[in-house]
Amino acid sequence: MEHPSADRSGGVTVASGAAVSSIGMSVSPQHDDPGKTPTLAGEGGKVPARRPSPSPAASLSETQAAIKAEAEKAGTNLDTLMGRLVIEQGLATQDEVSHCLEQVKDDRNQRSLAQMLVTHNYVTERQIIRLKQIVEAQRSGQKIPGYKVLGKLGEGAMATVFKAKQISLDRTVAIKILPRKFSGNPQFIERFYAEGRAAAALNHPNIVQAFDVGKAGEYHYFVMEFVDGRTVYDDIVKHKRFSEQEAIDIVIQVAEALQHAHEKGLVHRDVKPKNIMLSSDGVVKLADMGLARAISDKEAAEAEAGKAFGTPYYISPEQIRGEVSIGPPADIYSLGATMYHMVTGNVPFDGKNPSAVMHKHLKAELVSPDHVNPKLSAGISEVIEMMMQKSPRARYQSCRDLLIDLRAVRKGEPPVIAHRDFGAVDLQSIAKAEAATPVEIAVDQSRVSSAGGAGAVLSQPLFIAVLVVAVVSVIFNVILALT
Ligand SMILES: Nc1ncnc2c1ncn2[C@@H]1O[C@H](COP(=O)(O)OP(=O)(O)OP(=O)(O)O)[C@@H](O)[C@H]1O
Ligand SMILES: [Mg+2]
Repeated sequence: MEHPSADRSGGVTVASGAAVSSIGMSVSPQHDDPGKTPTLAGEGGKVPARRPSPSPAASLSETQAAIKAEAEKAGTNLDTLMGRLVIEQGLATQDEVSHCLEQVKDDRNQRSLAQMLVTHNYVTERQIIRLKQIVEAQRSGQKIPGYKVLGKLGEGAMATVFKAKQISLDRTVAIKILPRKFSGNPQFIERFYAEGRAAAALNHPNIVQAFDVGKAGEYHYFVMEFVDGRTVYDDIVKHKRFSEQEAIDIVIQVAEALQHAHEKGLVHRDVKPKNIMLSSDGVVKLADMGLARAISDKEAAEAEAGKAFGTPYYISPEQIRGEVSIGPPADIYSLGATMYHMVTGNVPFDGKNPSAVMHKHLKAELVSPDHVNPKLSAGISEVIEMMMQKSPRARYQSCRDLLIDLRAVRKGEPPVIAHRDFGAVDLQSIAKAEAATPVEIAVDQSRVSSAGGAGAVLSQPLFIAVLVVAVVSVIFNVILALT
């Protein structure tokens, strides 16, 4: 595998400007702290405007210095840049900024615009400090030729995602920028590019399209389709419980995306509410496809010695066990856990810490979703329970199978596959047959087991032998009784 070393510092482009495909990079060795389950809103915390906050003075001046340097570089007045950023980020209105600018002019204490905005409680100190990250990103963005960073979209455990303009095509994109600390891990970087190339093979309306991956200066970056919308996680945080129909519609689109990826040989490994985006035009987009497996669970665990890896709420038992061969059923498990969370409002397993949660994934019995939320149909519960079987062999073996059941439940019918206790029967071949004529086959099979069953039994040699023994035994008993 080619290693993107220093000679590539001019920018490694897997498919610059071309339709590659897929996503960010949730290589997350850190966990979403299960201890915070009931208050997930605390994670990735967006600070509400005007909330009083601790005042880390050193950081504020550091921020001002960073912004000042940026302003000087751009030949702009510091306050002008600060005002623009504050408005762009939606932290204060144009009027509020103008009001403060007026006051700055006559201020005896020579306060800066930032200080004035804080004094008037238009923004918090913490919000000003967050602007520093944006300024830094704009700096790094300038080092990515052809892109202009517009603002921060969010951040995960391993990277920060920015909204940016691809200048040549005049289109808005999302850029995931890896922190510099990862540049020092050649194995990680090697996989980052390898998976970037693998992701290039994907092209699906329900997968966030990857455009470009590369290195510019000290930064590794991943350019992808900008999704104007929110994540399923954002909705859950707002204490939203999805209706059965809403959840099925979303999960069907994710399953279609996964089916496409699985057919191309990619397993996501990090399906979770944060990686499912809901665009404002109603299309579901799976993010972090392909890149999620840029780092194996084992390496992540090693990198974060003593900490759990992955997102313990949604991780499959085989990933917890660190099994080498992780296939489509692992993604189906995580999608099941995600769906469980969506329709019940609870994560499937909770615990004091990540290991407690993971232990439950391995050993604890799942509380049926319809026991948590009685409004759910038995059908959807059966489907989720089958998705979340502990043994990968007992789950749907492919998203094709899963989709058959999800579509049946959406129509108000019982799930075709989960409804039957097939045990270790080869579900894939059954699903293939049923995909052709699902209803007829279902009817035929029930006929076979009731009517056809008797004929089949009668033709068994063992049955005939038992019958003969029984008749002879009756004759003997009659003779004995008469004598
Ligand atoms: N293509 C995109 N378009 C718009 N916003 C995006 C896009 N990709 C990511 N985001 C936003 O950036 C945030 C951070 O994404 P990132 O993949 O770095 O982390 P995550 O998936 O939220 O968490 P983790 O690091 O735990 O996997 C997302 O939650 C989302 O709000
Ligand atoms: Mg993500």
